[in-house]
Amino acid sequence: MPAKNIEELIALCKRRGFIFQSNEIYGGTQGLYDYGPLGVELKSNLKNAWWKSIVYERDDVEGLDAAILTKNTVLKHSGHEDTFSDPMVDCKSCGERFRADQVPDYCKKEDLTEPRQFNLMFKTNIGPVDDGKSFAYLRPETAQSIFTNFKNVVDSTARTVPFGIAQMGKAFRNEITLKSFIFRVREFEQMELEFFVRPGDDDKWHKSWVESRLQWWKDQGISDMSLELYDVPADELAHYSKATVDIMYKFPHGVEELEGVANRTDFDLGSHSKNQKELNIKANVLNNNESNSKLALQDENNNWFVPFVIEPSAGVDRGVLAILNEAYSVEEIDGKERVVLKLKPHLAPIKAAVMPLKKNDENIVSLAKKVKDNLQKLGLGRILFENSGNIGKNYRRHDEVGTPVCITVDFESLDNQTVTVRDRDTMKQERISLDKISEHLKKIV
Ligand code: GAP
Repeated sequence: MPAKNIEELIALCKRRGFIFQSNEIYGGTQGLYDYGPLGVELKSNLKNAWWKSIVYERDDVEGLDAAILTKNTVLKHSGHEDTFSDPMVDCKSCGERFRADQVPDYCKKEDLTEPRQFNLMFKTNIGPVDDGKSFAYLRPETAQSIFTNFKNVVDSTARTVPFGIAQMGKAFRNEITLKSFIFRVREFEQMELEFFVRPGDDDKWHKSWVESRLQWWKDQGISDMSLELYDVPADELAHYSKATVDIMYKFPHGVEELEGVANRTDFDLGSHSKNQKELNIKANVLNNNESNSKLALQDENNNWFVPFVIEPSAGVDRGVLAILNEAYSVEEIDGKERVVLKLKPHLAPIKAAVMPLKKNDENIVSLAKKVKDNLQKLGLGRILFENSGNIGKNYRRHDEVGTPVCITVDFESLDNQTVTVRDRDTMKQERISLDKISEHLKKIV
């Protein structure tokens, strides 16, 4: 049962240390959020799950981690300087500024200015000289550095189509209208794959990536009922796309995009290539192309061709929001409310909490520490040593943050080397021998 509304999730995130408003002690900054002690774990578990499925579990994808600051020429050639903008209007009555298609009901049409284009990229300078010509942007998508590194990756790995390059990392957009907590923000993370294929094979690969990405979100614990596909109509497609299918999630504020899977054709490799005419590329040909690379491959007959690219592009922050919402559940136990985050164990910020029954009994505390240290060495993620004493309260707190198991060390543990293991979802407790506890946790996580 997902959260009733976004406020419930925001309250949990603040209370338990998942997500905070950035610069909060100075009044906060709109559209910026910081991930706290539990948020950083959840986010990194989600990213690791993506990397594992996209890079490690396939044999046709390489990874990349490129610079965020991007030379202006790259984003000129990609089309972002000219087209990555939203129409903006001002309301003369309330003084607020909105995206033209997102004006709230309380503003009257006659109070609005004519729409004008507002570029969403953050601009800055590299180095001390500002000559007004060569400057940089904070990247608006991670994709472009994959295209500009295409030749480097091909030359260093001897890859040929079909193959992909994956990258996760920050992207920045000076959004006009923010939305729903971390749903639409100005600094966020993306998990993007550019999968290069032979022209003609693109429709088949597009379909296959839509299916595989939809299944991946289900594997992260999102129910079938909360997901749907949206075939983006031609007049809504991005400037580079031939076809896009969005994976939509039922967020607390409505059904919206979680991930887009686009067929970007040869647009980007074409735009960043020299000798575009010679390569017969359909992309927007620019007069002053400064790229010195031919971003193309040779086929069996040594003919040059520019690969088409299929791009599954997911938002990490939207993923975190969807997963928190989906896992959030409130139960009634003996007339009292129990909030439980039913996260898939591989995503849980804390994999197990180990707690001594008595916080001032040296033998119990020392055995509990030993158990924690041994479990930590398994490399499953964070294991927490919890020495606040009140076991009942600890259980409830760990339910609320999604810890799959709580392990209690008590007097009996000293006698017979067993511990109590409590399951988050069933609340059932069982005694497990210390020499079996590692296997037990490995099986769960
Ligand atoms: N490279 C393609 C691309 O960037 P996009 O649809 O603009 O396509 C991809 O973005 C994903 O990035 C979206 O599905 C969404 O999850 C995430 N995203 C985009 N803008 C965002 C924002 N302002 N705040 C949070 N996430 C955002």
